[in-house]
This record gives sequence, C-alpha cells and structure tokens, in this order.
Amino acid sequence: MKTLDQIFPTLKQVPEKFMMDFPIIQSEYLVNGKIKKWHGDFREVYSPVYIKNKNNYTNYLGAYPMMGEKEAMEALDAAEKAFDNGNGEWPKMTVEKRIECIRKFIVLMKEQKETIVNLLMWEIGKTLSDSIKEFDRTVEYINDTIEALKNLDRVSSRFTISQGIIAQIRRAPFGVTLCMGPYNYPLNETFTTLIPALIMGNSIIFKPPKLGVLLHYPLLKAFQKSFPKGVVNTVYGKGENIITPIMESGKINVLAFIGTSKVANTLKMHHPKLNRLKCVLGLEAKNPAIILKDADLDETVKECVLGTLSYNGQRCTALKIIFVHEDIADKFLNKFSKAVENLKIGMPWDDGVNITPLPEPSKPAYLTELIEDAVVYGAKVVNPNGGEQYKSLFFPAILYNVNNKMRIYYEEQFGQVIPVIKYKNIKEPLDYVIESNYGQQASIFGKDSDEISELIDTLVNQVCRVNINSQCQRGPDDFPFTGRKDSAEATLSVSDALRVFSIRTLVAAKETDTNKKIIREILKDEKSNFLNTDFIL
Ligand code: G3H
Repeated sequence: MKTLDQIFPTLKQVPEKFMMDFPIIQSEYLVNGKIKKWHGDFREVYSPVYIKNKNNYTNYLGAYPMMGEKEAMEALDAAEKAFDNGNGEWPKMTVEKRIECIRKFIVLMKEQKETIVNLLMWEIGKTLSDSIKEFDRTVEYINDTIEALKNLDRVSSRFTISQGIIAQIRRAPFGVTLCMGPYNYPLNETFTTLIPALIMGNSIIFKPPKLGVLLHYPLLKAFQKSFPKGVVNTVYGKGENIITPIMESGKINVLAFIGTSKVANTLKMHHPKLNRLKCVLGLEAKNPAIILKDADLDETVKECVLGTLSYNGQRCTALKIIFVHEDIADKFLNKFSKAVENLKIGMPWDDGVNITPLPEPSKPAYLTELIEDAVVYGAKVVNPNGGEQYKSLFFPAILYNVNNKMRIYYEEQFGQVIPVIKYKNIKEPLDYVIESNYGQQASIFGKDSDEISELIDTLVNQVCRVNINSQCQRGPDDFPFTGRKDSAEATLSVSDALRVFSIRTLVAAKETDTNKKIIREILKDEKSNFLNTDFIL
C-alpha cells in the first residue's frame, strides 16, 4: 500500500480529461446585466490536489477578484433597481415567463457540466462521482422547483369567498436577497436557495463560498443571458469588505446563508432593520448515531461509514458522534475499524476512491488538535493509520472512550475524526442530544420496535429528522430539511423553499356589484399579472 506522501500524482498521471487549462484567472464579474472587467486585487486559488514535480509540489489554480465596498454597493444598487420596490420587470413578470427564463438558464448551465464537475474536483477535492451527482442533483432540483411552482400557482389561480369577502391569495417576493452558499456543496446548496429566491421574483446578490469560487465562473454568461439586468449580481472578496456594508445598508430583505451560526449571527447583527430581514439559514450540526444492543452490525457499520465519512465527513448532515451500547461496543468497533481501514484514499478522479484531499488548508492541523486534546483526556485512536496526515490528506481516525471533557464531544469537526462513546443507559445519548447546541438529525440503529418508538417520540422534539437504520442525510430534496437551535432557521425542500422566499399576499374586496365588475374586467382583459386566473399547463 502507498504511504500518504506517495499518493499525489505527477502532471502526467492526471487523466487527460480532467486536466484543465490552469491558471484560470477570473477577471470578470456580473453586475446590472453587464459582465465587467476587474482591474483591482485578486485572490489566488490553490487546490487541495497537489501535483508532484520531482521534489516539489504545485497546486495553483488561478485567481478571482477581491472586490471592495464600492463594487459591493454597485451590486446592491443594481439588485435594488431590478426589484424597484416590486415595480421591476422581474417581480412583476408572470410566473410563466419567469419559468421560461429559468428554463433557458438550465440549458446554458448544462453546457458547462464538464467544466463545473472538473472544477469541483480541483477546487474542493470532491470525488468524481460525487461531483457529477452534485451537478445532476442541482439540475434536477431546478426542474423540480419549476414543477412545484406550477403547482403552487395553479392552486393560487382561484378565488376564495369567505364572510362576504372575495379574495385571491398568492405569494409575492420580498425584494433583494443575498445568497451565500457553503464550500462543501458550493453549487448545489447555493442553488437550493438562489433558484427558489429567483423564481419567486426576488433579485439576487450572489457571493460564492470561500472555496469553490472558480466553478461558478462559467455560469456568469448563463445568468447574464437568462435574466433581466440586475436580477442576478455577483460579488467576490472578504466578507468584512463586501458583505458587512451590504448588510449595514439595511436594504437586504432576505439573507440566505449556509455556513456557521457564528457568521450568521454577525451578519444579522449588521442589519439595522431586523424586522425587515428574513433569514434562511443552514448551520452547523452534530448529528449522533445511537446504536442499540440488538443492531444489525453489518448494516450499522455500512451506514456509519457512509454517514461519518462521505466527502471526508464534510457534510452538515454527517454523523459526527457515535453512541454504542456497551454490550456490542467491542464488536462494533472491530468491524467499523476494519471497514475504515479498507477505505481507499486518493485523488478525486481515482476509481472507487473514498477519502480525498481536504480543501481547507488548516483542517488537517485542526483535526490533529482534536485528536491530541481527546487523547489527553483518555481517548484512544483505535484504527491503524488513524490520524496520519500529509499535506491535505488525512486518514480517518476513530476515537474511542470519548467523554465530555474533550473538544471533539462538542465541536463540529467537519472532517475525518469519528468520536465513539460506549453507553450503558439510553439516557446518556438522549441527554447529549438535549444538551447539545444543535438539533438537526439523529440516526437510531436497532431492531426492537418498542425501544425504537420510544426513542422516536423523544427525539422528534429535539431534532428535525430521525433516521432508522440509515445515515443522516438531506435528500430526497422534496423532504423538508431544517434544524432546531443553532442548526437552522427556516425549512428548505423543493416546495418549502418557494414559500420561504415569498410571502402570502392577497387582493380582497367586499362582494359588492361594483367590486365584482372591477374584478371581472381585470380578469377578462388580463390587466393584472397578480390578479388573474390563468392556469399554467
Ligand atoms: O452539508 C449539508 C448538506 O445539505 C448535506 O446534504 O445529506 O445530501 O449530503 P446531503
């Protein structure tokens, strides 16, 4: 078996179809319908995938603009004008026409699939299969969003009469929406907020995550060609230089942010008119696996490997702590450790690879710190090679005998350190969930329906999804995805997202002859885009 320092390839060893013309210097940004040239400072982009060149390594991928307050304000101004207090072309456009624009965008986006998939591998080290999945899942999400909106619009195309009042109830956009996605799903999770916000008639300021920026570059033209000017604007740079002034302006109506609760709280606090600000937040989690004494160990191990280590554990939904009943703890650890030992570590495009380079330069050192801290308080790494590292590569470490003195007990590791705790009484994992700052999901592994049902009834009031004999996950995307406490604000799913980015709004009139006549005339001559009974086919 190769040691970690032998894993990075030479240039020749990179398969030709994944090679790109680096460096990619993004010297453009989209504002007010124009793709503008950037002449200021740049931020260099480095890959977690190092290329070996004799005794040296290179990993330079390119650069993107480091904008400042002036450009941020320009983007804000453009988005504000496009919305124009609800009078803009986009917010007033019929649902059917907005759908047409989104369809055009999908066609243009699909043309960029290969480039985006390759950049996902180079920029964030995601495996080829997961990168393809991320792209395809995003396109599917957009298509499903269109269908969900059609359904919503069909239901809203009728009138309601109650207590002598006739009304049509629809949904209206909020205004300028700031969309900021995470580095682990830079395309998918960004678009799960950006697309519904857009399709409901909001205008957008879009800031790509700190890692996974260049992969959005090929979409600038697609945005420009598909939407009226100012409806989508992009900003790049340091949050304090561009996002702080945007928030301080008080002109953001919706903040769609996926990242840490600390950053989310800071962003919110910059907004001077908190009641005007609607927040859609996907934040941290520390989802536990609770393994009961009658669990099927093979199935449990399979799900725990997937749950803890898919994309190197860098998923908000990852299983981040495992509680196993003392009667089966040794057996579980044995099997789990063997399964982890067999994982393949390599480059994102390698066949059957599981563990890939980590995109955050400081992550391997952070994970090592967590292990060292836990060892001081009595934990032990139980799998061979656990915690070994070289540059951006880190071999998963299973930490056993974890307790509440250790940082790993509380901190969201977002990487390949897996804390395992042996419990005697089911109260122990339940107390953990209750005391945790997070409340996203939990997984229960076992067979006894009496015991499982009791756990379900307790856990559903602490977390927002309880998985039985299955790892935690977001999908399918038509299921609600949310969390309690510091884990989320608002609920996302294909159909929920449409609701989150819009507000129920109605036109109502007393059922008098004059009012009926007015409404009839508006409908007959299709005078209003809002008040109409068109049924989208
Ligand atoms: O990072 C959090 C993602 O929403 C997780 O999604 O469960 O489909 O990997 P996933």
